[in-house]
Amino acid sequence: MVEAPTQIGRYEIRRVIARGGNSSVYAAWDPKHDREVALKFLSPEDIGQGLSNVPRFKREARALANLDHPNVITLLGGGEALGGAYIVMELLRGKTLREWLAARPVSTRALEVMRQAGVGLAAAHDAGMVHRDFKPDNVMIEPDGRVCVLDFGLAKGGAASAKGNEPIVDGWSSVNRTPLSRLTEPGSVLGTIEYMAPEQHLAGLVDARSDQFSYCVTTYEAVFGARPFEGHDVGTILRAMGQGVSSRPPRPAAIDARGYRALARGLSIDPAARWPSVTALLGELFPG
Ligand SMILES: Nc1ncnc2c1ncn2[C@@H]1O[C@H](COP(=O)(O)OP(=O)(O)O)[C@@H](O)[C@H]1O
Ligand SMILES: [Mg+2]
Repeated sequence: MVEAPTQIGRYEIRRVIARGGNSSVYAAWDPKHDREVALKFLSPEDIGQGLSNVPRFKREARALANLDHPNVITLLGGGEALGGAYIVMELLRGKTLREWLAARPVSTRALEVMRQAGVGLAAAHDAGMVHRDFKPDNVMIEPDGRVCVLDFGLAKGGAASAKGNEPIVDGWSSVNRTPLSRLTEPGSVLGTIEYMAPEQHLAGLVDARSDQFSYCVTTYEAVFGARPFEGHDVGTILRAMGQGVSSRPPRPAAIDARGYRALARGLSIDPAARWPSVTALLGELFPG
């Protein structure tokens, strides 16, 4: 295992938060602003494993820079150092939704958590973004109850190109100059299969309706304690997705009939059969 650097750019690395498949997240000290931040670093070794990582990583920064919302992680900066690239974010002190769900029996608080996560996701959509990897590991719950959507590393969007050319991230002043709409998206399958919409599995076709599907898988899991479509391989999962969820909830007490119908529609295999937007879905799931 590669040792953590002690300094990245002006940031002093304090501890490892997470060591993911293709990046590391550290808690770091920002001497310029006298505060702790979170720093996600793509090391040269990480980059060596896949050449497209840096452009994708820069897109994450650009995507986030266009969003300012309490339920979406706040981007503070980014740059290149030690032969790698990094982004700097507000440091969250809470747990991921994955950890949060593992630590408690299914509770009605899960619905409030999912409401906030949905509002964050809808804000990203309103900004022209598609997250593409919405799942419990990419949602965090702060000690004060605030819920934050993070990891826009696979995100795709068009709003940045519309917003013009101001430098958005120190050190990456040219980051937002390539219109996102011009970046070609190969049909590669990225993200986690159980949460991924079938059109994303099958054809790499992704839009906000695919995020809606992933959000509904996550909400279903949060509410019922099990995912709607399970299997050890893509074929089994896809067959289950084709059949859809049962017409009745596995635990009727956990959600009302209207909410369950709303989730079931969001889990439709055909994107056109889902809700027109996450905002529309939220209106049904959380009326009034
Ligand atoms: N801003 C942050 N504050 C605190 N923890 C974070 C922050 N960003 C990420 N993490 C933690 O690091 C993990 C990995 O970060 P993420 O952005 O999801 O990268 P990956 O692409 O490796 O999944 C998250 O699941 C979360 O536990
Ligand atoms: Mg993640």
